Amino acid sequence: MPIGDQARAETIRYHESYYSQHSLFDQDSWLKAPDQYLLALAEGQAPLWRKLTGQANSRPLKIADLGAGVGRNAIPLARFLKEQSIPAQIDCLDLLSLSIDKLEQYAEKYGVSEYIKGIVQDNDDFQPTTEYDLIIAISTLEHCSSKASLQALLQRLEKALAPQGHLIVEITTDRQVRAVEDNSAVDTFVETPLEKGEVEVLFQTTLASLELVLEENFPYREQIELNGRQVFWSSCQTSKIFKKRA
Ligand SMILES: C[S@@+](CC[C@H](N)C(=O)[O-])C[C@H]1O[C@@H](n2cnc3c(N)ncnc32)[C@H](O)[C@@H]1O
Repeated sequence: MPIGDQARAETIRYHESYYSQHSLFDQDSWLKAPDQYLLALAEGQAPLWRKLTGQANSRPLKIADLGAGVGRNAIPLARFLKEQSIPAQIDCLDLLSLSIDKLEQYAEKYGVSEYIKGIVQDNDDFQPTTEYDLIIAISTLEHCSSKASLQALLQRLEKALAPQGHLIVEITTDRQVRAVEDNSAVDTFVETPLEKGEVEVLFQTTLASLELVLEENFPYREQIELNGRQVFWSSCQTSKIFKKRA
């Protein structure tokens, strides 16, 4: 099987199994809490968003969550916006129909269905048809089918941002997997494996027109089951928030 197909198969197998085993906000999983920078951004933007949506004939806030999974970020964000009386539509896109089905069930459970629009969508083919005030792409860009496809997607996202809109990304780089039993390297496949330096260059060249408002890098380590084996997963996570100038 070509490497790209193996990577896509591993992505699908891993996420379908993970979302079937863990519920949203399970404390012993990475679904336990939303991205810390996202909610801080929403709190900071709330006064502007309230103003934007509170005028006569104004539209609801438009948000896209790419690779939304089961709603780890979209559902807490929707709950926050609802509490703040900020009307919004969050387009939640994911490759897997299982993710979107679960996300819609969780939206109902947490009382925010009117904020959430689930869409089965491959990021590679996402062609925004509206301007977004906020685009979220957390731990999903590395699943684009190639670096060229990722670059083209970033260009489309940059164009789709409304004036003063934000793009929040987190991307996994320098991924390594080792067997728990003997620490040997385990084959692992991701569609677009990237090193931190490559991501820097990619963002600098593709998103040059945007203002960088936050940048954090941190290591991530987790013991998981991968293809029936217990493994240590380690990677570097790069988080960035960009803003379109008014
Ligand atoms: C690590 S999870 C992150 C989910 C969510 N963003 C979060 O932070 O909880 C990656 C998600 O990206 C989705 N995904 C993988 N490849 C994708 C693609 N090509 N297009 C859209 N979604 C994809 C997976 O199904 C999965 O839900």
